[in-house]
Amino acid sequence: MAKLIIMNHPLIMHKISFIRDKNTKAKDFRQAVSEIAMLMCYEATRDLQMQDINIQTPICSTTAKFLADKEIIIVPILRAGLGMLAGMQTIMPFAKIGNIGLARDKKTLLPSEYYCKLPKNCENSEIFVVDPMLATGGSASTAIELLKSKGCKKIRFLCILAVVQGVEKIQKDHPDVELYVGALDEKLNEHGYIVPGLGDAGDRIFGTD
Ligand code: PRP
Ligand code: URA
Repeated sequence: MAKLIIMNHPLIMHKISFIRDKNTKAKDFRQAVSEIAMLMCYEATRDLQMQDINIQTPICSTTAKFLADKEIIIVPILRAGLGMLAGMQTIMPFAKIGNIGLARDKKTLLPSEYYCKLPKNCENSEIFVVDPMLATGGSASTAIELLKSKGCKKIRFLCILAVVQGVEKIQKDHPDVELYVGALDEKLNEHGYIVPGLGDAGDRIFGTD
């Protein structure tokens, strides 16, 4: 079963409550989404491999811990995933970026792919897929499937809000993927929106509603 970590942190909870509020303006919404992504990135990188390297401090020589020489790739699911990118990049400025464009059909709720550009030779990279919303789980599962079809093996998925249905879909389709969830919400409504949720994440990030 996929590893599931639900952030249970006052700062993350506070910021999620802030973006749930329909009166929060796009600029403040974007900023908070970015900050939540940064905090979640800290947790999701806890088990990254390290390597020992000899360095010279101003005082003496020592063996210091650095990240292992393994490529890290952040993959936002367009469009709303882009809102989490800046926060992730702040913590990991050395990461490469892959983009997967998926749009969920308003009636069927099924995702369709319209763009995919990943860094070359990504098979052995540490992949961090980001999307604020895990609703039916169709988009996340499709994105992960696409990455696996390119040979990617080590994949983490980070979302700000999820419902059980989406979590269960990922656990069933991709039991090897680690799931990091900001908060687990109650249910989906008849239009496939998360309840209580925060509305349409893409629209709120890009001001298109
Ligand atoms: C939203 C969201 C996820 C997807 C979640 O994107 O950002 O990608 O819906 O729903 P699911 O779990 O049921 O697949 P949307 O397709 O609305 O596109 P957007 O990011 O361009 O707004
Ligand atoms: N996509 C969104 O942007 N919001 C939801 O609540 C569900 C899917």
